[in-house]
Amino acid sequence: MSEADRLNKVLEREAPAVFRCLSPLGREAAFPKGIPYQAAMANGTRINATIGQMTDGHGNALPLSIMEPLVESLDTAMTFLYAPVEGHKSVREAWRRRESALAGRYAVPVAMPIATHGLTHGLNLLADLFADEDTTLVLPKPFWGNYRLIFTMHAHCKLATFDFFKDGGFNLDGLADTLAQIRGKAIVLLNLPGNPTGYALTPDEAEKITQVLAAAPGPLVVVVDDAYQGFVYEGTALRESEFWPLAKGLDPERQAVFKVDGATKELLFFSSRLGFLTHPYCTPGAEDALLSKLKFLIRGTVGSPPGPSQAIVLRALQDPGIEAAFDARFRVMKGRYQALKRAFADLGTDRLVPYPFNAAFFMLVELKGIDSEVARLRLIEEESVGTVSFAEPNALRLAHCSVDEADIPEMVERIVRVVTT
Ligand SMILES: Cc1ncc(COP(=O)(O)O)c(C=O)c1O
Repeated sequence: MSEADRLNKVLEREAPAVFRCLSPLGREAAFPKGIPYQAAMANGTRINATIGQMTDGHGNALPLSIMEPLVESLDTAMTFLYAPVEGHKSVREAWRRRESALAGRYAVPVAMPIATHGLTHGLNLLADLFADEDTTLVLPKPFWGNYRLIFTMHAHCKLATFDFFKDGGFNLDGLADTLAQIRGKAIVLLNLPGNPTGYALTPDEAEKITQVLAAAPGPLVVVVDDAYQGFVYEGTALRESEFWPLAKGLDPERQAVFKVDGATKELLFFSSRLGFLTHPYCTPGAEDALLSKLKFLIRGTVGSPPGPSQAIVLRALQDPGIEAAFDARFRVMKGRYQALKRAFADLGTDRLVPYPFNAAFFMLVELKGIDSEVARLRLIEEESVGTVSFAEPNALRLAHCSVDEADIPEMVERIVRVVTT
């Protein structure tokens, strides 16, 4: 029996929905016994001649003398030497502690998160593992455009969308109706708090989504994109990730769930290219089988995750000041969010209809009587304001995360001017 067949048998037994959803590539995936495997086995030998990186002969980094001082407060080996394909254990452990603490009362046991090259790569790994031309990706619309590139263009999924909002909240009927029409395997992608909507669920909506997904016959993979976790500005919205109730409430025979998150937005470390992939399949067999398959895919795409980012993130996660540091930035974000709410509360025009927003970095406003792309171009030319246009619905996305609070009323005034003249 091949190693891939052995892993598939383990998953069939211990994580049946994961097994049932594997793509042809996912079924073939098994980490080979090549260089990283053999180098890991030789760890701790007196003379280690396995890996293609220059050391001092005793496992320590030997960077260029001009570079070492640039990062002298960081762990030298972690910064300059290759990271394990799945990321450094210390960083993965620290991330798991953080995520489980953020889950609060919803927390369930999860496998060790696997480090990815940013969230995009985490999503890509899931597309490789599960998506093919017989898979339908279910997405509330509008959605982050890169999902299309990752799942439909790269992995050839079919796409089934439904309107994100209904009656001032998440469109639960849209999700249920769309799922009911799908024959065969589906991937449901949830991004809440989300881009471009800036919307986080209420606890009631979160519970109902869990019920809808748990009732689906499957096979189904739910991907929770938690890029904007933590940025929730209203007490009425759910702060915890929808991943946790799903990990608890889904039926492992029919539905699988994965969480994608990372340092990018949550630690405001946009350039880090450090994300994490977490799942609840933590029996030893299933955890090892998924790790092997994911390492196969990581090795064949980005090789391994960046060391300097892991060294910085580990230091941040170990720092007792991390919460206060986050809070300071959160207050700035909340101030901008509130300024935007105030500006849209009293517009004096019915040509701008904001969608509900309470979280993340954005809001979405529907335009009446003017095409959003025309408005976007006029905003640049006539008003020196940059926005992003969406065709369906006819809307502009405003990223308040990058606008000074003091400029927000003026930004809205300029938008009003363009849509009313
Ligand atoms: C919803 C969502 N998911 C994922 C990402 C990508 O994150 P990363 O830059 O870590 O790949 C973004 C970035 O804008 C995003 O908005």
